[in-house]
Amino acid sequence: MKKDFLSILDLTTADLKRCLDVAAEFKRGRAERQGAPTASLLAGQHVALLFDKPSLRTRATFEIAVRELGGEIINPTVDETLAKRETMADVARNLERWVAAAIIRTFKQERLVEAACATTRLRIINALSDTEHPCQALADMMTLREHWGTLAGRVLTFVGDGNNVATSLVQASAMLGVRIRVASPDGYGLSDRVVDEAIGRNASASVEQFIDPHKAVSGADAVYTDAWTSMGQENESRLRQNTFFPYQANAELMAKAKPGALFLHCLPAHRGEEVTDEVIEAPTSVVFDQAENRLHTEKALLTMLLTE
Ligand code: CP
Ligand code: NVA
Repeated sequence: MKKDFLSILDLTTADLKRCLDVAAEFKRGRAERQGAPTASLLAGQHVALLFDKPSLRTRATFEIAVRELGGEIINPTVDETLAKRETMADVARNLERWVAAAIIRTFKQERLVEAACATTRLRIINALSDTEHPCQALADMMTLREHWGTLAGRVLTFVGDGNNVATSLVQASAMLGVRIRVASPDGYGLSDRVVDEAIGRNASASVEQFIDPHKAVSGADAVYTDAWTSMGQENESRLRQNTFFPYQANAELMAKAKPGALFLHCLPAHRGEEVTDEVIEAPTSVVFDQAENRLHTEKALLTMLLTE
C-alpha cells in the first residue's frame, strides 16, 4: 500500500478489490451488530479531519468510521489553518507528531500532494479535491457490485460535468473492468490525461467520451450524474445551468438505458437540475446505498492504511 490515498490510482487493482471485500465484511458484521471484532483496530490512534469545503456524507461517515474502529477524531478549525496561516507542508508536519492520519477536503489536489510529500508517517486521505473524489468512487463500486454481483463487462454512463467525481469513477471503473462512458458538453469533458492514465492501469479498459447524452446512455446498465456546479464554481452557476440542461437525468434519458438500469448520484442532489424527482425516487435509484457504503468503504480503507 502507498502511504497516502490521494487518488484511486494510488491503489493497486488487487488492493482496490480487497478494499471492497473488507468493506462488504464490515457491512455484514455491522448489520449483525458485531461491532466488537473491529472496535479496537484503531485503538490509541488519532485521526484529524480538515475540511475547507462543506460536507455531510464525507464528514459524518469518516467520524463514525474512526469511532467504530476504536480511534479518536480531532477537528482542527481550517479557515486559517489550512489556507492562510502556514504552509500545507507545515500543517502536515505538525499533525504528523500527533495523529496517524489526516483526512483533508480542499480545493487544489496539489495541497494534498504537498501534505503527503512533507511527511513520512502521516497518512493523507483525499476527502475531495477540485479534481478527484476517490472515497466516493470506492462506495460507488461497492454499490454497483452489490447490485450486479460482478462488475466486469457492465456498462456505466456518467452524464454531466467531467469533474472530480467523474474522474475517480473513471479510474475505478477502468481498473475493475466496468465499461465507462462519460457524456459532457463540449469543453466540459475529461482531460486526455485522465483518460490515458485510467486506461494505462488496465489494457482492456473501455473508457469512451460522448457529447450526446442519449447515445452515451443507450443500453447502459447504470446512469450516474452529479451537480452541474461543483463547490468553488458558484460564479459559473447560471452559465452551467443552461449548458448542462440537455444532460439532465430524467425519465426520457433513463428510457434509453437498459430496462431496470440503476441510477447513481454522489449527493447532494439538485432536484430539477441534474436529476428529476422521478428518477432519483425511482426503485432503481441506489443513491442512499451509495451514501451508506461510504461508511463501510472508509472503514476498510482506514483499516488497510493504518493497520497493515
Ligand atoms: N458525496 C459527498 O461527498 O457528500 P458530501 O459533500 O456531503 O461529503
Ligand atoms: N462535484 C461535487 C461533488 C460533491 C460531493 C463538488 O465538488 O461539489
